[in-house]
Amino acid sequence: MKEHKNILKDTHGRAHSYLRISLTERCNLRCSYCMPAEGVQLSPKGHLMSYEEIYEIAKTFVEHGVTKIRLTGGEPLVRKDISVILEKLASLSVELSITTNAVNVDRHIDTLKTNGIKTINVSLDSLNAEKFKHITRRDYFEKVYNNILLLNSEGFKVKVNVVLMKDFNDNEIIDFINLTKTLPLTIRFIEFMPFDGNKWDMAKMVSYKSIMETVYNAFPEDQVHRLQDAPNDTSKNYRIKGFQGSFAIISSVTNPFCDSCNRLRLTANGQLKNCLFSSTESDLLTSLRQGKSIEPIIQKAVLGKFKIRGSMNTLKKLQDPKLHSNNRSMISIGG
Ligand code: 5AD
Ligand code: SF4
Repeated sequence: MKEHKNILKDTHGRAHSYLRISLTERCNLRCSYCMPAEGVQLSPKGHLMSYEEIYEIAKTFVEHGVTKIRLTGGEPLVRKDISVILEKLASLSVELSITTNAVNVDRHIDTLKTNGIKTINVSLDSLNAEKFKHITRRDYFEKVYNNILLLNSEGFKVKVNVVLMKDFNDNEIIDFINLTKTLPLTIRFIEFMPFDGNKWDMAKMVSYKSIMETVYNAFPEDQVHRLQDAPNDTSKNYRIKGFQGSFAIISSVTNPFCDSCNRLRLTANGQLKNCLFSSTESDLLTSLRQGKSIEPIIQKAVLGKFKIRGSMNTLKKLQDPKLHSNNRSMISIGG
């Protein structure tokens, strides 16, 4: 480990030990909350990080104190060289995990296993095949659901991400929680967040408070146990008494958890984002290709990190399209 390790410490006292790397801007689904219907402008191939470049950049972060790396996208499993990427990153001393839509999970199960991946986050917003098709614009419900069961039976710890939208899937909250009765899954309900081109509207968002009201209407209060959250956890965790799995709520809109944020993001074209909501990025890839040190750029980006949601510290600011549309669409940030 290098001596000047504190390049990952920001001006608000937060140490950044978690790097999320987006491997691609492409996806085999078209979730409406994640990308505009017309798609996004893809970076030219030559502007994307190669697996060697991903490894080089990741290695620098690990040398400075990153202990956890999550691969995201787009859909990370659509990258042709995914096995090599996993293999290279698994050689670093880091906890490696992945967020996927699970469409291609069955094809990659062995690679995931051999490279030490233990926890997998899967996006699934409805348990109804028609609704799934509506939101993702693709007909893959069965495939995704079966792949979740497969991951579970193969011993992975599976977290299911559910982005809740009013009058679309908020009537499925209890169905999702009931899945945890016999399956050891963690269902994570996520408040719908604004990104460029996703037609966000506060009225479509289902808040932490209203999710819990739904839960307490379905289960007696003494059956709903609040669990201890892990350090730096973005979610508030609960378990229904006697259930195998648990559920959690990620309330980035009504209850931001920026105080304990330890995350940095690297986009598929090699830009460092110091926050999911930041409107600025720092180009690591160009410097790496020029043979220059990327450390000063990382340090500057970390020092420029705002205290809360890329400076959108109030709900009013978050609702202002002028502010949140300076950002990318989620598909090109990497969840
Ligand atoms: N609001 C909340 N969560 C989102 N995700 C993608 N777009 C949004 C949004 N607008 C989540 C998906 C996916 C993860 C990578 O990011 O649930 O699982
Ligand atoms: Fe693809 Fe995930 Fe975005 Fe859906 S949310 S379009 S699965 S990257």
